[in-house]
Amino acid sequence: MFQKNVSLKPYNTFGIDVIAEKFVEVKSAATLSSILAMHKDVIILSGGSNILLTKDLSKPVVLLKNKGIKIIERHDEHVIVQAQAGENWHEFVMWCLENNFGGLENLSLIPGNVGTSPMQNIGAYGVEIKDSFVSLEAMEIQTGNTLCFNKEECAFGYRESVFKNELKGQYVILNVTFKLSTKNHVIKDGYGVIKQQLKEDGVVKPTIQNISDAVIKIRRSKLPDPKEIGNSGSFFKNPVISEEHFKKIQSTYPDMPFYKVSEELIKVPAGWLVEISGFKGKRFGDAGVHKNQALVLVNYDKATGSEVLEMARKIQSTVRRNFNISLEMEVNIL
Ligand code: EPU
Repeated sequence: MFQKNVSLKPYNTFGIDVIAEKFVEVKSAATLSSILAMHKDVIILSGGSNILLTKDLSKPVVLLKNKGIKIIERHDEHVIVQAQAGENWHEFVMWCLENNFGGLENLSLIPGNVGTSPMQNIGAYGVEIKDSFVSLEAMEIQTGNTLCFNKEECAFGYRESVFKNELKGQYVILNVTFKLSTKNHVIKDGYGVIKQQLKEDGVVKPTIQNISDAVIKIRRSKLPDPKEIGNSGSFFKNPVISEEHFKKIQSTYPDMPFYKVSEELIKVPAGWLVEISGFKGKRFGDAGVHKNQALVLVNYDKATGSEVLEMARKIQSTVRRNFNISLEMEVNIL
């Protein structure tokens, strides 16, 4: 059943070359269940877009490749759609647009698969998947039982869910169900960069397709394509600090970008902190910090996961020294 000593380079968007001693591709829940019946201590891989592999893996690696998208309910103004975990996220968003289903267009071009999208509640340009999410089915690794989780049970937060916290490592997400609009779409063009892109494109009354096109243009101009330069999107989360702490930094950097989270809390862009700390565009061997977006760490070719991790730790300690802020990694380290 398992292939032996397989390179995981094609299966992680960082393009890190580590070996899995045992590796298997799984196309159905039934096969997954039979594997889990024999092996409880496994590593589940999906789109590989949110991991940094730092060593060869001796535990069995299971690559989820279950496919399929189906409309399970049609209503007057919306549909309920279920996509299997192994579907590529962006291709799923494109399928929604081809069918004129609205809700996920701001999340165009995010790397990864459908199954991992709820894991960290993927988000971009004012939208998170929790906004269209209905439920998901997941298999419990210990028992092989399949359970349904509704939105509350997933405990979504900013790049967070129950599957990254209390239930970490306990479930494999099999499929995700979304509620999508079929008419009177809610257009989410509130983000400054989106407004600007639509203006440049000469779009006055944007459709969901226009929003997707704008997002794709913005992401292509700022973020490296993992097929060309290995990366995992934002490496750190944007930190939230107290108003008092923020005022202190702002007195030195009056132009510092920020978002108010509440009366007392301010979110500051990690990319800005990393840039001001002097790392933007820096290279340490084949590991580096992207030249257009300092929040994205990259593998130019043959960097090891440990080299990327070492660079990330250097960034964390410099940002801590400069701003007294601890940057939390968004990416899972294996
Ligand atoms: N900035 C800098 N220097 C940089 C990067 C950013 O000064 O090198 C400043 C920008 O000028 C801007 C602010 O930081 O004022 C925010 O930058 P941006 O709009 O690029 O967004 P971000 O906060 O860096 C977040 C998400 C992205 C998501 C974008 C758009 C996180 C950790 N990242 O990035 O998500 O695409 O907003 O909504 O929340 C991902 O999670 O992998 C990801 C790419």
